[in-house]
Amino acid sequence: MKKELKVTPGIFPMPVLMIGTYNEDGTVDVMNAAWGMAQSMNQLKLCLTESHKTVKNMKRTHSCTVALGTKDLVVESDYLGMVSGNTVTDKFEKTGLHATKSEKVEAPIIEEYPICMECKVIDFEEDGTLVEVVNVQAEEKYLNSDGTINLNEVGIISYDPYGHGYYVVGEKIGQAFSDGKKLM
Ligand SMILES: Cc1cc2nc3c(=O)[nH]c(=O)nc-3n(C[C@H](O)[C@H](O)[C@H](O)COP(=O)(O)O)c2cc1C
Repeated sequence: MKKELKVTPGIFPMPVLMIGTYNEDGTVDVMNAAWGMAQSMNQLKLCLTESHKTVKNMKRTHSCTVALGTKDLVVESDYLGMVSGNTVTDKFEKTGLHATKSEKVEAPIIEEYPICMECKVIDFEEDGTLVEVVNVQAEEKYLNSDGTINLNEVGIISYDPYGHGYYVVGEKIGQAFSDGKKLM
């Protein structure tokens, strides 16, 4: 028997997206966002609160990077979702993480996160910010010989909208567009 729960956007897993931007003085800001998704083959929609430092930075630079949170960086990722660059000017510095400048967009790539999308802002829409993914980078050690990513190894985490937990996404259990053929 099923029980009714409090209404929640109950899709699990939700992502843990680490959005990197440059502040006006060239320092780095990163925020955590779970409300984001693929919008088309090369676009993402990010639902970001207008007052965040990240949004102010994106309005100025029309750029951001979007990295995927990993289990080794849970503490840093959560901290970056609780503290704002609006009030803590050395927010990123306090994490001890490192950044290099993207060659494609005006935004920082955070070295410690193994998968990173470099993005250009297309539009600030009412239901979220639409960005174009212009490049994707992944740590070589996680790449399979065919260029796909060995996701069993990366330790990507997801956000749980029911209990606010972080969970590791792992173990491959099937192949899309393939397993279903058994019933065709
Ligand atoms: C797990 C988690 C998920 C979050 N998801 C979002 C989100 O999708 N959109 C948003 O605007 N803020 C989200 N936040 C809050 C921001 O990360 C937080 O307000 C942050 O301090 C903003 O940083 P900034 O002002 O330096 O940009 C999330 C925080 C956490 C911990």
